[in-house]
Amino acid sequence: MSLLRRKSIDTITEHEAGHKLVPTLSWPHLVALGIGAIVGTGIYTLIGVGANLAGPAVLLSFVVAGIVCACAALAYAEMATLMPAAGSAYTYSYAVLGEAIAWVVGWSLILEYSLVVSTVAVGWSGYAVGFLHGLGIDLPQALVAGPHAGGIVNLPAVLITFVVAGLLLAGTKESATLNAVLVVVKIIALAVFVAIALPHFDAANLHPFMPYGFVKSVDAQGASHGVMAAAAIIFFAFYGFDAISTAAEETKNPGRDLSIGIVGSMLGCTLIYIVVALAAVGAMRFDVFGQSAEPLALILRELHAGTAAKVIAAAAVIALPTVLLAFLYGQSRIFFVMARDGLLPRALSRVSSRGTPVAITVFTAILVAALAGIARLDEIAALANAGTLCAFIAVSACLLVLRKREPNRARVFRAPLAWLVGPVAILGCLYLFWSLPHATQLYFALWNVAGLVLYLLYSRRKAIIAQ
Ligand code: ALA
Repeated sequence: MSLLRRKSIDTITEHEAGHKLVPTLSWPHLVALGIGAIVGTGIYTLIGVGANLAGPAVLLSFVVAGIVCACAALAYAEMATLMPAAGSAYTYSYAVLGEAIAWVVGWSLILEYSLVVSTVAVGWSGYAVGFLHGLGIDLPQALVAGPHAGGIVNLPAVLITFVVAGLLLAGTKESATLNAVLVVVKIIALAVFVAIALPHFDAANLHPFMPYGFVKSVDAQGASHGVMAAAAIIFFAFYGFDAISTAAEETKNPGRDLSIGIVGSMLGCTLIYIVVALAAVGAMRFDVFGQSAEPLALILRELHAGTAAKVIAAAAVIALPTVLLAFLYGQSRIFFVMARDGLLPRALSRVSSRGTPVAITVFTAILVAALAGIARLDEIAALANAGTLCAFIAVSACLLVLRKREPNRARVFRAPLAWLVGPVAILGCLYLFWSLPHATQLYFALWNVAGLVLYLLYSRRKAIIAQ
């Protein structure tokens, strides 16, 4: 049955000339790409949103989201080293679960990557506008916010998206090296935050620890609260390591580099987050910074560390584009691979002499810039999470199905305790999905219904595998 047709794992890295990406990356690039993609708006901004939903128990939200992501990261590492081909969760699903599920996963990844780029671009714009205000430069309100906030278009968000797309077009390796420098800036800023906030730790700020309970509850206004509702949003802070697997085809030594890149960046970020979150909720009552658009800077200002607050803001402006870079990169690669497979128009999969898929990178940039210009930050972040959860579930299912179907296939990286790790990742992601706002779940379903219509009317017949 064609809906279940699969690609062969053995030939998945073979592609005709002109449709192949050039291997230029090794593990330090991948760890930098991973941390560059992971540490962003989640820890810089959504930590406040999370604290507002869960109270000091947002610490538990970080732990829950971190455990689920760590399990998914192990599944990703096994799949990425087994199939070092571009396309990430989409490609693994095509080889293991069949074309129809692969389509849903690819379509969800398009949603995830687009919305993460748009979300972070809007978040960056907020910091940039505040930063410029500090320098005495005020842009017209109509040009710094979308229609939902009384403006016309969020111009800084649109511009930063195109700047990052330009970097990608200049070539993957050059962008990855610049990315590594910006990652260091971002980490130093968080270290400064912890160094200043942690000495002000006061256990009294942690009481009451869990004012809204653990399980998601919905109040009279329809807003969600609780540790799990916060975890479903905080989840945004953790992903990005999956963007590394989209670089598999451009990696010199996939077996070693991908596992170090994925597991290393994930563990590093989890550690950083727990320390930052502990420093934040320990230094200040959560309701002081929970509503802030720049919670870390606010905490530092309240602690009379004004200069350090400016450093944090500047670091966010300089370094948040690394997240844009990683996700725009991943987005163009997902499009690229789906087009190469014939599921999207095939002309989109041509690469330039520098190994960059130009048409798709430009197309993607226009799409996400338009979205960043008009969309609402909190809603698009939650919807990005829904798409990511879908991909994580699929990759964890691939891990288990393949362990059962082909137990003797050589594996460069074997996820430890697969029969514990896989189910924890799948059930954890389902629980996080359930904890998202109802509207997000509905939008996600509508997006996939539209995708399935496209698949049944067009992609299924055009698939290369069917020719
Ligand atoms: N993890 C990324 C961030 O927090 C998406 O910005």
